Amino acid sequence: MRNKIVGKFVGAFVLLIMLSVLILNFYVGLKLKGEYEEKISKRLSSNAFLVGDLLKEDIAAGKHDIIQKKVRELAGKLNVRVTIIDGSGTVLGDSDKDPGSMEDHENRPEVIRALKDGAGESTRYSDTVEYNMKYVAVAISHGRKQIGVVRLALPIQEVESQFRIIYKAVLTGGIIAILFTLISGYFISKSIINPISEMKEVAQAISEGDFNKRAKINSEDELGVLARSLNRMADEMQLKMNSLSSMDKMKTDFVANVSHELKTPLTTIKGFIETLENGAIDEKDNARRFLSIIKKNAERLSNITDDLLKLSELELGKDRIEKKRFDLKDLIKDVVLRYSHLITTNHFKVEQDYHGKSFMVNADMQKMEQVLVNILDNSMKYTGEGGSIKINAHDMHDHFMISVEDNGIGIPAEHLDRVFERFYRVDKARSRKLGGTGLGLSIVKHAVLLHGGDIRIESIENKGTKVAVTLPKAIQS
Ligand SMILES: Nc1ncnc2c1ncn2[C@@H]1O[C@H](COP(=O)(O)OP(=O)(O)O)[C@@H](O)[C@H]1O
Ligand SMILES: [Mg+2]
Repeated sequence: MRNKIVGKFVGAFVLLIMLSVLILNFYVGLKLKGEYEEKISKRLSSNAFLVGDLLKEDIAAGKHDIIQKKVRELAGKLNVRVTIIDGSGTVLGDSDKDPGSMEDHENRPEVIRALKDGAGESTRYSDTVEYNMKYVAVAISHGRKQIGVVRLALPIQEVESQFRIIYKAVLTGGIIAILFTLISGYFISKSIINPISEMKEVAQAISEGDFNKRAKINSEDELGVLARSLNRMADEMQLKMNSLSSMDKMKTDFVANVSHELKTPLTTIKGFIETLENGAIDEKDNARRFLSIIKKNAERLSNITDDLLKLSELELGKDRIEKKRFDLKDLIKDVVLRYSHLITTNHFKVEQDYHGKSFMVNADMQKMEQVLVNILDNSMKYTGEGGSIKINAHDMHDHFMISVEDNGIGIPAEHLDRVFERFYRVDKARSRKLGGTGLGLSIVKHAVLLHGGDIRIESIENKGTKVAVTLPKAIQS
């Protein structure tokens, strides 16, 4: 396609130039020829008048020898043929021939004209000199009497050869112009077509799902701008495709994870039910034990589905948040109170410190409760009996910071970045034994971010963990 268009461009250029050269040649030729011929006739006729003036006395006196002598002299000087004819057509003098041998000239058109109107001209083939001549004749008067005609003649070949030179020059110029057009047209059209065909290739690649191709940008003109926007479009498409495919991967990963997490308790439940069916139901002690395992796994399934539901609700976004104003301090105290039984049986030391008068937030209370419950639940789960848990609330002028610090098992540094991922647990078996789902911190992070807050976790293995949540203050009313 590239060559086709280049051909079209160059062809059109050449045709145009050829046409211009032709028209120019024709027009210049015509114009020059007209002007040149007019100039020659003018020169011939003024010279003829001059010759007439110089010779009229001799013609009137009939001095034929002198006439012939002067005619030859004048012709040599003027570089034309000179003929003197009397009123009846008899040749009195001629610069090229002996007048005595010449026939009468009264029937020559220029002579007839001159005798009648005073001047005449004609262009024709001359038998005497055997080529085309331009003749200009003027009448000579002596006193009031017309006594003859002076005729000057110039070979027209001279004129024509002049024109041939001009034609040739214009034609050579035309050919040079065409060659120049061919070469420059080729490069000019290539410079236009190349970027276009490159962009065509990019567009084609995009249409085939390949977003890696880019067009070269060699100019800042319209084509350059077009190439730039095409490249930008390809960039955006590539970005979108990448994020789409990574989202796709996240979804499939999630589905695989969920299925895996559900499968384990289900398999256990099914296994024990089969054992019971196969007779264990009659062994009372075993049966009781198996049933409690079944119950535990059913609870686990229920925990997982509960957490999944919470997550998916959070994923629906801000619209699902039911905000109201309340004091975080009250909520924290409330949650701790709910754990009081667990706290006493495990001998946890729980401290609460509030650095500020009130902690009014505009938030979804249920979700904030989930946040606190999950963080506190982790602290107790991953801290052994008698561990200490410090809850701090700080008023930080434009936001609140709530932190929960324990002196439990901690999190190895290499896991710290990942604990907010769904189903991510440092020690799967341990978490499972403690009734964890691995979704708690994902839920917490989601909820905090939805409220315009942030969450950070710091931990040192075997020393303890600190989780800090920031939340925006409620606007005073
Ligand atoms: N306070 C903590 N102390 C030690 N490890 C913790 C603490 N909080 C969270 N973790 C680690 O982060 C993992 C993810 O926490 P989470 O999402 O709440 O899941 P889980 O259901 O296991 O509690 C836990 O399995 C645990 O390994
Ligand atoms: Mg948890």
